[in-house]
Amino acid sequence: MAVFPVRLFGDPVLRVKGAAVEEVNDGVRKLVDDLFETMAHAAGIGLAAPQIGVSKRVIVWQYEGERGALINGEVVERDGQVEDDEACLSLPGLTYPVARSRKVRVAGLDRDGKPVEIEAEDMVARILQHEIDHTDGILFIDHLEPDLQREAKRVLREQALAGAPGGPSTQRL
Ligand code: NI
Repeated sequence: MAVFPVRLFGDPVLRVKGAAVEEVNDGVRKLVDDLFETMAHAAGIGLAAPQIGVSKRVIVWQYEGERGALINGEVVERDGQVEDDEACLSLPGLTYPVARSRKVRVAGLDRDGKPVEIEAEDMVARILQHEIDHTDGILFIDHLEPDLQREAKRVLREQALAGAPGGPSTQRL
């Protein structure tokens, strides 16, 4: 296992749709373990493979004792909608409210390559939607209204010009 640097906004890998995993082999299991270790090191609650530079559909999360990994994950059912603050390890210092489905059912493969379905609500549902977005090349600021998107991008540009990313956010996905 290894800790990898988290890729930041502007890195093209964050905008690429990740490749589906064809076979859950030792390489994929190592990727899952690297994601867990990098997430823990970054004090994150979720992480997706593109965030460590690997363009594959693999995500992990850890929130209040719930911990999981999902390969080729997709949302297959949604219910309700709720707006809550969201942030991202790849966009340090930014926090904005994002509307997400309150409950989701996601389907994919577990670390052993076995098909799984996971039902989640509230924060874990939010994390799953955020991380699956990452595997599609989508960032949480894409869900903001245009004026907030412009503001977010201005802040990110200023950070880049200053040569320093923003400080930690409260919720780190
Ligand atoms: Ni994120």
